[in-house]
Amino acid sequence: MEKYKYPEELSEAMKYAVMNGGKRIRPILMYMICDLFGKKYDKIEDMATALEFIHCYSLVHDDLPAMDNDMYRRGKLTTHVKYGESTAILVGDVLLTEAFNVIAESEKTDDTAKAKIIAKLSEYAGFYGMIGGQFMDIKSEHTRVSYDTLKYIHANKTGKLITAAIELPLIALDIEESKREKLVGYSELIGTAFQIKDDILDIEGKFEETGKQASDEKLEKTTYPSLFGLEKSKELLNECISKAKKILEENFENNGLLIELTDYFGNRGA
Ligand code: IPE
Ligand code: IPE
Ligand code: MG
Ligand code: MG
Ligand code: MG
Repeated sequence: MEKYKYPEELSEAMKYAVMNGGKRIRPILMYMICDLFGKKYDKIEDMATALEFIHCYSLVHDDLPAMDNDMYRRGKLTTHVKYGESTAILVGDVLLTEAFNVIAESEKTDDTAKAKIIAKLSEYAGFYGMIGGQFMDIKSEHTRVSYDTLKYIHANKTGKLITAAIELPLIALDIEESKREKLVGYSELIGTAFQIKDDILDIEGKFEETGKQASDEKLEKTTYPSLFGLEKSKELLNECISKAKKILEENFENNGLLIELTDYFGNRGA
């Protein structure tokens, strides 16, 4: 973040939104994909920064009054509460834009791989990805929508950036297509699991652990618990986790750490 100097307050607000105790689950997944294939991390370090920038931007905008209107994130005041709405909107904008600059300027990956990575990441962050999901999430407030729409919301608002965390390293490391398909299938399962757990934690989680206050019920969000209740949601969560682990067990050696992380997706308290 050192390169962002002036305007100082914008730089400070960017740091506030990024360097503040997030779990870094997406970069960790990226590094674990390197581990799975016994590869070094150098080619994906910049990609991990870019993806975390996009994730943090999505959170800053998600918390805005026009979206979920939340006051706390990662145990601290949300960016718009701390710096004002206009700054928070611009922090989101700048993180999204700089993410692609970080990739374009990366010296660790060749241009062909970079172009493929930019194409995938912009797809997963955009209309056919996180934004599409966020749009339907907002449109589905205060109304009851179908299970298909709920699946679309989860697969896109959360799932696509998790798939990016798996697929970007596979592109950077030039991993064969058949393995890539299996791992994309795995990513879709853990992406859904991650958001089901997020919905469950919105009800059962403790502020000291999640750093967030519940807001789904107040906004009458369409979530797994709102459609199915807590018990059934937990069953569906466990189903996703079991299927995801099966893909790893049946297709990959050296899968120990990734299996542990998959379990964490189901058990996490934050
Ligand atoms: C929260 O993501 C938003 C969702 C997509 C569910 P994380 O739970 O990964 O948030 P941080 O980065 O750890 O704060
Ligand atoms: C947000 O989902 C997903 C994105 C930011 C893309 P939520 O609105 O459920 O996330 P939290 O609970 O505020 O972290
Ligand atoms: Mg939201
Ligand atoms: Mg939210
Ligand atoms: Mg949530």
